[in-house]
Amino acid sequence: MDTKKSDLTALYAAHLPLVAQRAAAALKSTGYDALLVHSGVPPGIFMDDHNYGFKAHAEFKIWAPLLNAPDSFIYFAPGQRPILLFNSPDDYWHQSARVPDTWWTSHFDIHIVATRNAAREQLRSVAGSASIAYVGDVFPELLDWRLAAINPEHVLHALHFARAAKTTYEIACMRVASATGARAHRAAAAAFESGASELEIELAFIASCAQREQELPYNPIIALNEHAAVLHYQHLEHAKPAQHLSLLIDAGTSFAGYASDITRTHVYPALLAGRDRELAGAAADFKLLIEQVDALQQRLCAMVRPGTPWVDVHTASYRGIAEVLLGADIIRGDVDAATDSGLAGVFYPHGIGHLLGIQVHDVGGTQGDTGGKQIPRPAAHPTLRLTRVLAEGFVVTVEPGLYFIDSLLASARNNGLGRQINWPRVEQLRPFGGVRIEDNIVCRTAVSENLTRDALRQLQ
Ligand code: GLY
Ligand code: MN
Ligand code: MN
Repeated sequence: MDTKKSDLTALYAAHLPLVAQRAAAALKSTGYDALLVHSGVPPGIFMDDHNYGFKAHAEFKIWAPLLNAPDSFIYFAPGQRPILLFNSPDDYWHQSARVPDTWWTSHFDIHIVATRNAAREQLRSVAGSASIAYVGDVFPELLDWRLAAINPEHVLHALHFARAAKTTYEIACMRVASATGARAHRAAAAAFESGASELEIELAFIASCAQREQELPYNPIIALNEHAAVLHYQHLEHAKPAQHLSLLIDAGTSFAGYASDITRTHVYPALLAGRDRELAGAAADFKLLIEQVDALQQRLCAMVRPGTPWVDVHTASYRGIAEVLLGADIIRGDVDAATDSGLAGVFYPHGIGHLLGIQVHDVGGTQGDTGGKQIPRPAAHPTLRLTRVLAEGFVVTVEPGLYFIDSLLASARNNGLGRQINWPRVEQLRPFGGVRIEDNIVCRTAVSENLTRDALRQLQ
C-alpha cells in the first residue's frame, strides 16, 4: 500500500476540521469554552526507575498522530487554530521528542515547552479565563491549572459517540495498517510452517512490520495448538511444542495511531500428508472447520451495511456457528435447540466483533446518543462490545470463532448441555485449540470495504 505523503496531507486537511467540529459541538452542548487534551505519560513500574512503554492517548492521537511526546497537550477553542504544547524536556538521559515536519504539523500553532509548569504558563497566556474541559491523566499539579472540569463525562460521551464513523483520512490510515498487518501475517504463517516457537512467530511478525510491541495496537496473540482455546492468550512460549498442530494468530499493526486487528487460523501443513493417519484425519477435519468458519465469516461480512443492527449480525453468527458445529458432528440436535439452550455458546463465548479505529476496541460501541444513553447488550450475549445500528463509515471487526475451552466444556458436562456434545469428536479436535477468522470492514452504502481481504489479495 503506497499511501503518499501528499495524499495524507490532503486527507488530514479534511479530517482535522471534522474533529474540530465535533469538539466544538461537544463543548457547545456542555457549556465549556475550550478543550485541553493530554498525550499521556508512560506508567512507572512499581518501586523501579523504569517505565512501561509509552502509548499516547487516543483522545490526543485523533487530533495529531504525535506518538512519542509524553506530557504534551492540545488546546482547542472553537473558531481558533488548535495549539500544541509540545513537551521537549531538557533531559540528557533520554531522547526528547522533536517537532516533526510532516503532513499535519502546519495545522497547529506549536509552542515547545520543557516542563509542566511551562505548559501551564503557556496555557494561561493562550486561554485567559476560558472555561476548559480537560481530558487526560490526573496529576497533582492539575489542581492549580484552573480547569473547569477534569474528564467530564458528558464531553467524553459526545466525543466518543462521534468516533464510530471514520473520516476518509482515518480509513486511509487503516488501509495502511491493514497492508502491513497482512504482510506480517504472511511472514508469521511462514515461520509457523517452518516449525517455529510462539516467540519466533512473533519475532517474524515484528520483523515484517518493523513495529516494536509498544507501537503495535495490542500485543499479538500467537497461540499454538491448544493455546488457541484461550481467547486472549497472552504468553509466548519460547520452546517449540513437541508437535505443531495449529496456529491461531490474532495480531495487527498500526499506522499514524490507527489499528488493524486481524486473525487467521492455520493447520500445520505437514500433518495432512503425515504417516500418522489418525492425526492426518484430525488435521483434515480441523482444516475443514477453518474453511467453514471462513465461509461463515464471509457471509457475516456481507451483512455489514448501514442500517443493520449489529445485534442481528451477532445473532446470525451464533446460528452460523451452531450449523458448523452440527455439520462437523461436534454437537447433536438442531440449530434452534443449540442456540436457545446456550450450547453454541459453549464453543463460541464472545461477540462477533467491535468498533475499530484509533483504539482496537474503539469507544462508544454501546452508546445510543451523544448524551451517553446506553443500548444494553442482549441478556443472552453479555460479551457483545457493540450494540449500535451500523452507519456509513463505521469500521468494525467481524470475527466468529469456535473453540474447545476446557472450563466451558467441564461446565457443560455438569449442566446437562453435555448430553448434546459428541465427546469423542471433541477429544479428537481439542488439541487444535480453536478457530477464529477476523477481518476489518468499512461499512458503506454501496459496497462495504474489506480492508483485510483487500490487503491480503494485494500481497499475491
Ligand atoms: N485482538 C483482540 C480482538 O480481536 O478483539
Ligand atoms: Mn477484534
Ligand atoms: Mn483480534
